[in-house]
Amino acid sequence: MSVKTGIPGMDELTDGGFPEGTINLISGPAGSAKTLFGLQYIYKGFMEYGEKGLFLSLEESRDNLTRASKSFGMDFDQFKGTNDIQLIDFGEIRKEIELQEDIDYGIVSLRNLLDFILQTIKETGAKRLLIDSISAVGLYYSDIDEFRRELFRFCRILKDHDITTILITEASQSGDTRFGIEQFISDSIIVLDYENVEGEYRRTLTIYKMRFTRHDPYKHPFLITKQGIEIDHVETIY
Ligand SMILES: Nc1ncnc2c1ncn2[C@@H]1O[C@H](COP(=O)(O)OP(=O)(O)O)[C@@H](O)[C@H]1O
Ligand SMILES: [Mg+2]
Repeated sequence: MSVKTGIPGMDELTDGGFPEGTINLISGPAGSAKTLFGLQYIYKGFMEYGEKGLFLSLEESRDNLTRASKSFGMDFDQFKGTNDIQLIDFGEIRKEIELQEDIDYGIVSLRNLLDFILQTIKETGAKRLLIDSISAVGLYYSDIDEFRRELFRFCRILKDHDITTILITEASQSGDTRFGIEQFISDSIIVLDYENVEGEYRRTLTIYKMRFTRHDPYKHPFLITKQGIEIDHVETIY
């Protein structure tokens, strides 16, 4: 079974979407449209395919996200108070659940994050999960080995649940293809970028890896239109 992203051009690059139950990494530098990709995945998921979604933001406030979404014709406010789509600013949740951790806004351990996710999907029946970003979670850990261990555990447990996940991760700069430890635990790696192609500024998307399915390996241009990301799945960039 494939989980359609609903993003124009994206599902044509794979066998119709993400294989169900997988963990998919979206990587790219700041401004490369990672958050927008995630918003579309969750929004379309419900509007077009009737799948409930959970969007966990660790970087941007709910207000910022709903405002940005509106400029692309996506109205997340209509889901307020429903289980259809939960758009959650984890920084606010953290205050409510009064975690005993004296740390900065939005920073949370993987254990706390997982507890919250499992409880929420049990309550709502969400089928799509987005975490923006896993890099923000990494800030909690001063010991990289501990982060690695916890991330393995986190992903293993997530995979026991019937949910298809996008993890967003920040690349340090454009063209950076070192993904850090997230790459080992994810089933797929999708890189968003922007670059100068023969004097022209182009946004690009490349699927580097996707387990359990065939996928297009080439770099494709995409546009940000009034409806959001639109990928040209025919044209390639070398
Ligand atoms: N209405 C719009 N039309 C076209 N581009 C936009 C619009 N609003 C925002 N953008 C661009 O969309 C990009 C996507 O940003 P975002 O998804 O937040 O990136 P990231 O999460 O990778 O940092 C930004 O670089 C911004 O310049
Ligand atoms: Mg972002």
